[in-house]
Amino acid sequence: MVRRRETLCIHSDQPHRDETNALSFPIYQSATFGHTDLGGTGFAYSREKNPTRSHLEHIMSTLEGAASTSAFSSGMAAVSACFELFAPSDHIVCTEDLYGGVTRLFEVVTQKNGVTVSFVDTSDLAAVEQEIRPHTRAIYIETPSNPMMKVSDIAALARLAHSHGLLLIVDNTFLSPYLQNPIALGADLVIHSGTKFIAGHNDTIAGFVCAGTPELGDRIALIAKTTGAGLAPFDAWLVERGVKTLAVRMNQQEHNAHAVAQWLTQHPHVTEVLYVGLPENPGFRQNARQARGAGAMISFRTDTPQRAQRMLKKIHLVTFAESLGGVESLLTYPLTQTHADVPELLRKKLGITNTLLRLSVGIEAADDIISDLAQALE
Ligand SMILES: Cc1ncc(COP(=O)(O)O)c(C=O)c1O
Repeated sequence: MVRRRETLCIHSDQPHRDETNALSFPIYQSATFGHTDLGGTGFAYSREKNPTRSHLEHIMSTLEGAASTSAFSSGMAAVSACFELFAPSDHIVCTEDLYGGVTRLFEVVTQKNGVTVSFVDTSDLAAVEQEIRPHTRAIYIETPSNPMMKVSDIAALARLAHSHGLLLIVDNTFLSPYLQNPIALGADLVIHSGTKFIAGHNDTIAGFVCAGTPELGDRIALIAKTTGAGLAPFDAWLVERGVKTLAVRMNQQEHNAHAVAQWLTQHPHVTEVLYVGLPENPGFRQNARQARGAGAMISFRTDTPQRAQRMLKKIHLVTFAESLGGVESLLTYPLTQTHADVPELLRKKLGITNTLLRLSVGIEAADDIISDLAQALE
């Protein structure tokens, strides 16, 4: 029987319990596992494989439609694992407007290892094609992008990538597997910061790489086991508990985000609202074609930098904090927080200025979020 997404979040595709039949899958807090014979039980050492982590990886595979998933200790560990697929002289075409930590990874680690990266607007297919070189090995995207909410056409990029023998890697953090499944659209690898919507409670750090084929999944699993950044059992349990409510949280967050975005567009001190759920957003149609919703991430611009900075001090209910996707609404100042490590020239080109704020809408009552933003904008 085919299960719907809401059901998969709670029960996965089949009942998966240990021999105690506990509804909350146990935390197997063990570094090593005794062998009963030479074949073993499939579990030997937790860096390689742990039952609690495997349980969560299976749930993520069913939600993303992946052949297999590896769970990591952070979203950045997941991104780093993907980059271990490449060798010196390889080249990657990448969304120019993406999480600043990934830009820092490229500058601090990837380039040092001889892998070069070109940053382009991946919502522009022709621009991506122009950047493909003989040594290009992958296209790496975030859609919607961070923080400018540009939408890239996943299926078209997959076709382009495959026609040149490249991998398409999609960071699906902003929409979560509940709203978007890049593998079904042709992507080879899907990355998540599990810290965000998937775990959902701002209480743990986690990451995932979901692979479209068993071969790619095995390569990532080998990197995970070898480099040793697998998700710890307790964190895997916390994330799994969070996933159970992914559907209801995401529905409420998106509902709130629509209300907040609409309200922001009417505000006299707000000069621009970037939300892919607004029909006037350039990415609205493409997002609607490839995703089941617009999510809960909104960027907006105030009329002055002073107002943006004052807002961060005046908010009460919404918290001035980095991160996104949790039940609590968070307001971020990309210039000095998430995107501080993006080179200044690129930041200016992208429009990450001192008037730009990014809001992750939580599950509080929409009216309360709006009241708080209203008083902070005065
Ligand atoms: C889109 C995106 N990808 C990856 C990451 C990295 O994830 P983590 O903070 O879990 O390492 C983040 C973190 O903010 C993110 O926003």
